[in-house]
Amino acid sequence: MTDAIQIPSTGVPIPPPSIIEIVHLTRTIDTPSHRVEILRGIDLAIPKGQFAAIMGPSGSGKSTLLGLLAGLDSATTGQVLLDGVDITGLTEDQMAEVRGRKIGFVFQSFQLIPTLTAEENVLLPAELAGVGAENAQRARDLLHRVGLSQRLDHYPVQLSGGEQQRVALARAFVTKPPILLADEPTGNLDGKTGQQVLELLLELNRIEGTTLVLVTHDPALAAHADRIITLRDGLIASDVLKANQN
Ligand SMILES: Nc1ncnc2c1ncn2[C@@H]1O[C@H](COP(=O)(O)OP(=O)(O)OP(=O)(O)O)[C@@H](O)[C@H]1O
Ligand SMILES: [Mg+2]
Repeated sequence: MTDAIQIPSTGVPIPPPSIIEIVHLTRTIDTPSHRVEILRGIDLAIPKGQFAAIMGPSGSGKSTLLGLLAGLDSATTGQVLLDGVDITGLTEDQMAEVRGRKIGFVFQSFQLIPTLTAEENVLLPAELAGVGAENAQRARDLLHRVGLSQRLDHYPVQLSGGEQQRVALARAFVTKPPILLADEPTGNLDGKTGQQVLELLLELNRIEGTTLVLVTHDPALAAHADRIITLRDGLIASDVLKANQN
């Protein structure tokens, strides 16, 4: 889904502008007994509209990287730029505002609000952004798209793990974010619902131009990505752009 622009005179493609740029990013945590270097220097540029899959062994730093991209965690050193804006220096209020406009996030652990129904959970980000009323139908449509039309009034405790995951995914899309960050979005799903979620992700990428950065162990999901970035021990071990991409 990434479009490079051709310069007519030379035919040399200019890379499209990066919606996400990561510069020398590190994340270190000091525990009482020792220092953990979770990310040890990541440089990455993700163009608008790209579908990037982040893979790598457990503990390699994938969720940490995603949390830093969403401004949910603070870098030790380095920068994260979203649409050219360095988010590493923002206050919490400023970051919440950027997140509300630019980012949909699906946590590895879903993090649904237990006292809200499926439909209310999906609509919540839109309500927080003050656009709840105009997105009520979109919230229901998204739940329908992930096969949960019959579960609108159910509370998270009444939903299976895979159903909660699909609610979390619908919630991440409700405000039409230009960037979707998702941690194992098909991790708890069977073949059929996994396929449904994959189709939704691909359609939003294609139709709404959503930039997708997905952490996944699922080869079926990664097979559709434009690019596969593999982390190992807090570093990028490989970064492969599919041949049909610019
Ligand atoms: N708050 C923390 N304190 C200490 N160590 C941490 C903390 N958060 C993460 N880590 C460590 O950092 C490493 C990377 O964690 P992270 O959750 O990013 O891995 P991951 O690649 O997402 O793994 P998985 O595939 O299992 O989800 C792990 O070894 C983890 O134990
Ligand atoms: Mg993880």
